[in-house]
Amino acid sequence: MSRIRIQGGACLQGETVIQGSKNAALPIMAAAVIHKGCTVLHRCPKIADVFVMEGILKKLGAQTSWEGHSLILDCRNIHSFCISSCETEKMRASILLAGSLLTREKRAAMGYPGGCVIGSRPIDVHLEILSRMGVCRRENDGRLMMTADCLHGIRYRFERRSVGATENAVLAAVGAKGWTVLENAACEPEVIALCGFLRKMGVKICADGRGMICIMGGCELSDTEYVIPPDRIAAGTLLMAGAAVRGQVTLCEAPLGQLDSLLALYQKMGGQYLVSGGTLKTDSRGVQWALPLTETASYPGFPTDMQPLLMAVCCTLQGESMIRETIFENRFRTALELRKMGARIRIDRHNAWIEGPSVLKGCRVEASDLRAGAALVIAALCAEGETIIDSCEYIERGYENLYENINLLGGRIRRENDDVDETEITGKSEKNKTEVTGKSGNF
Ligand code: UD1
Repeated sequence: MSRIRIQGGACLQGETVIQGSKNAALPIMAAAVIHKGCTVLHRCPKIADVFVMEGILKKLGAQTSWEGHSLILDCRNIHSFCISSCETEKMRASILLAGSLLTREKRAAMGYPGGCVIGSRPIDVHLEILSRMGVCRRENDGRLMMTADCLHGIRYRFERRSVGATENAVLAAVGAKGWTVLENAACEPEVIALCGFLRKMGVKICADGRGMICIMGGCELSDTEYVIPPDRIAAGTLLMAGAAVRGQVTLCEAPLGQLDSLLALYQKMGGQYLVSGGTLKTDSRGVQWALPLTETASYPGFPTDMQPLLMAVCCTLQGESMIRETIFENRFRTALELRKMGARIRIDRHNAWIEGPSVLKGCRVEASDLRAGAALVIAALCAEGETIIDSCEYIERGYENLYENINLLGGRIRRENDDVDETEITGKSEKNKTEVTGKSGNF
């Protein structure tokens, strides 16, 4: 396991470019499997989760290569429909390959998906939809074996919105006979991006952005190039980092329009921003006011992935903030680590009350998942002294060059491996090194 050391107290100032979206890239990579041809994904983030998905596609028989941030997927010779449990356990998004393999190969054999430990994260809705579309399923030794001689289109209304189950339903619908109509489907920008990619590939698909998605199965597919949209959670992370240290951060290529719920909160805290020519200029010098109640919700509401990051900023605000988590039942683990740093946080089931401002003090803490880890980075930036964050690999699952980008803005983050000497992360030259090796977090 590796760790990062952060010297607190630096102010963040300057410009940073937002990476491609993890949660858009993963389902689109899964979708590429459906087409017996080539797909090129531009602005694909070089992060651990993308490398895991790339590794799975290679084992299925795809040929993959990178040109800068363009990922080339040649899926002509995919010959397998089996994914080992140790592969699927690495990542929740592996379950999306069920929909695409069933469409392409009429069968899929795979382990249950893993992912960040933020709740029980069942896949019952995924499986229910697939079975309604004609998939026969059995379980053997904790593995799912699925076959579908003939997938058929369905009309399905989600009782509760699910991003992954919507994406899986869309992927299976591409291979189904006739139309599939999904109601109360997830409308996250990443779902809309998947639909946009499939449309470009030749699928007749229409998503109204309000929960209705219609897909015509059996369309002829073609080779496709697609630009992965910028990552709204990565943009939000840098916005929150700036807010915590009262900095002035400009986000270039930010997904403007997808950050409305977050920017509304930012303004309530006292932050100011300006949108000009595709960039978001933020000024956090006035950030001070506590937030009475913030509830996580599906898009366009406040994203659950931003919740731990907001919690870290709330520690610095004047007065009591309250956060209600409505999506995942186990997503307040950040609070335990923040408390070690001096935060005053009370938790009762789905509610957290954060009393601020607290003088956070650097200490040794542990990242329990991707966003919790990023939240600790934010807390450490505004803490007194040095913070050590263990298990920083979690952070690198979803962020490309987060430490370098923060260092370029004025932060002081240093990564250490158990087996390697300390490495200073200076920004530009290290960034180039990452480019050359094609590995994220390998400084
Ligand atoms: C996706 C995102 C994740 C984000 C989440 C919610 C990816 C790779 N991950 O995760 O970053 O935090 O959306 O915006 O895109 N549920 C069930 N049964 C199911 C499926 C889901 O009960 O079969 C529940 C979940 O436990 C959760 C809720 O539905 O309480 C929403 O989960 P879902 O939208 O499916 O999240 P993911 O797709 O796993």
